[in-house]
Amino acid sequence: MSASAAPRIGVYPGSFDPVTRGHEDLIRRSLAFVDRVIVAVAVNVAKQPLFTLEERVSLLRETIRLPEVDIRSFDGLLVDFARSVGAAVIVRGLRAVSDFEYEFQMALMNRTLAPTLETVFLVPAFDLTYLSSSLVREVARFGGDVSQLVQPSVQQALRKKFGR
Ligand code: PNS
Repeated sequence: MSASAAPRIGVYPGSFDPVTRGHEDLIRRSLAFVDRVIVAVAVNVAKQPLFTLEERVSLLRETIRLPEVDIRSFDGLLVDFARSVGAAVIVRGLRAVSDFEYEFQMALMNRTLAPTLETVFLVPAFDLTYLSSSLVREVARFGGDVSQLVQPSVQQALRKKFGR
């Protein structure tokens, strides 16, 4: 893109409860087609999160230290947040067929609410395809090794949460 063009901004929204190596992979991949990524941590997640909003944001900040990436939290509708930061695209990961229905519904609803905002789905790295925050929480809860799945700071935060 030319030096004078406005930077292309992507929003990568989620619960990040907690951030995993899968999220990190997607953030890096999205930088191939946007100039800045705003990681948007949802204040209100459907289920009671393990980590508080502040913990989820600070674990992301400790994990992702790239100049092109900002970590922010948002409340309310994602499309309103995306508009407020001037984003052109919403980035989501599509890991398996099981993700598809929920993701498709969300993308279509977001398009209804904001017709010019595109949702882009990225395929994660092969070895991270079946990784999710909920699996990480489950394994960590029972003392399993999650060192391949999350950064050391997240691993430590999980140990502290579960008293292990
Ligand atoms: O990591 P998650 O839990 O799959 O992320 C879901 C999230 C936070 C992206 C989604 O629930 C969301 O966008 N929430 C904000 C409220 C909103 O805009 N809802 C309408 C989307 S259809």
